Formats: sequence, structure tokens, C-alpha cells
Amino acid sequence: MNKYHRFTELLLQSRYAVALTGAGISVESGIPDFRGSDGVWAKYDPLEYGHIDSFRADPAKVWNMLVEMRALVESVSPNDAHYALGELERLGVLKMVITQNVDSLHQRGGASNVVEFHGNFRGMHCDKCRRPYKSSEVSLAELPPLCACGGPIRPDVVLFGEGIPEQAYSLAFDAALKCDLMIVVGTSASVAPASDLPLVAGRRGARIVEINPEVSELPREVTEMHIMEPAGAAFRNIMKIVKSFAH
Ligand code: APR
Repeated sequence: MNKYHRFTELLLQSRYAVALTGAGISVESGIPDFRGSDGVWAKYDPLEYGHIDSFRADPAKVWNMLVEMRALVESVSPNDAHYALGELERLGVLKMVITQNVDSLHQRGGASNVVEFHGNFRGMHCDKCRRPYKSSEVSLAELPPLCACGGPIRPDVVLFGEGIPEQAYSLAFDAALKCDLMIVVGTSASVAPASDLPLVAGRRGARIVEINPEVSELPREVTEMHIMEPAGAAFRNIMKIVKSFAH
């Protein structure tokens, strides 16, 4: 039995499978990851651009990076890995996608039960009074966009130094406590608390399987199986087998 058959068998035998995804799943859509050699953090120093204190000290500067990121996110499309997760949810095999990504590509790829651990670019809010805005109603002609209260408006993405949105946090950790299989795709597993999710699930005996062309920081003893391939290619193989079972 090859690794794809074994992976698909684990998937189809599971009662409550969830996926945890990171920037790597969107690389084949054209969004560079954060920690790769041409990653976001190679171009922008994370402390200078990705931290809430940097935003508060100089919102216009951080907005310059955010404008670039948002334009990129809006210009790309889901890839076969996003579509596969959407299809697996539709088939009832996958119960939830927990993503660290802010690109909305899982939803565009057909998944509906998506927990956005690090927020998204669809919404914005005032950093001072918390008033919510739709991204479409905020003009970016001048940066930073300002709220009626005078505070700077920012996207609903989680910056370093901030907490995880409460509901996303509890849904994700509840799933880690409930799942019997967690598929970890395209994350370096280097940023807590997201990186704790597979550890919490694994400690309770859930199977942890990984899809990543590189070795991540997930401890080896936690991972039952590691498919060292790009997510798109891996899911194309997996879906061929899933479909052969469905017939
Ligand atoms: N398919 C699957 N995995 C891939 C692919 C691919 N085609 N290309 C790269 N990867 C893997 C890399 O090997 C790496 O392990 O994706 C991972 C991306 O890791 P990071 O760049 O660290 O991204 P992520 O884990 O999502 O980062 C977590 O850190 O900067 C913050 O808030 C940001 O949500 C982000 C968090």
C-alpha cells in the first residue's frame, strides 16, 4: 500500500477529521508563505511590520504592507488542495478546516466550516473604538483609513502581540479535543497557539498526518505520517483514491 492509499484509508476510517492549514497551502495559488526564502518575512521584518505595537506607532507604514498583501490575496484563486478540502467536507469526511491563513481561499474552494484562527481581510475595524467596517466601504486613498472617532481602521487580521479571536480559539481547541484525525497542511507549526492544536489532539490519541514538502517544527513523535509533497499534488493523488472508493 503506498502512502496515499494509507493516508486515504486513515481519512475514510476517521469519525471526526479536521484540517489545520497554513500559508503553504496557498503557495500554489501564488501567495508566498511567511518563512520561505521569498516569504513575506524575508521582505518585511515581522517585528517592524507584523506587530500590533508597530501598527500603533506607525499605522501608515504597516498599511503599506497590508495593501500589498490584500491586493495579492484578491488576485489569486483557490488551488486543488483548497478544492479537495471543500470536496471532502461536502462528502462528510472532513468536519472542519482551521486555517491560519487570511486569504479566504478555503471558502472560495468550497469549504463552509472554516475557522479563521488569524482573522481575515474581508472585514475591518477601528483599532481605537472597535467599530466594524466592511472592507468594501473603506477607502484606501489615504493611509491609514480613519474612523469617525479619529482612530486608525485596520483589517480583521491578527497581528503579533494580539490574542486569537475568542470564537475561533474555542472552536479550534474544541475540535482538537474532539477529532480523531488532524491533517496538518502547509504550516511550519512555529507560531503558538495554532501550533498547540496538533499537540493537544495528538496527546489525546488523535492521529496526526502532515502534508508539507519540508520538515516542520511539529515533533516527529506526534506525526503518524508525513507526505513530503506540495499540497496540490498530494491532494490530487488523494482525491483520485477517494473517488475510486466512492464508485
Ligand atoms: N504545499 C504544502 N506546504 C508547503 C508548500 C506547498 N506547496 N510550500 C511551502 N510549504 C510549507 C513550508 O515548508 C512551511 O513549512 O508551508 C509552511 C509555511 O510555513 P510559514 O511560512 O511559517 O507559514 P505558517 O505556518 O502559516 O505561519 C504561521 O505565522 O507569520 C505568522 O500569522 C502568520 O499565520 C501565519 C503564522
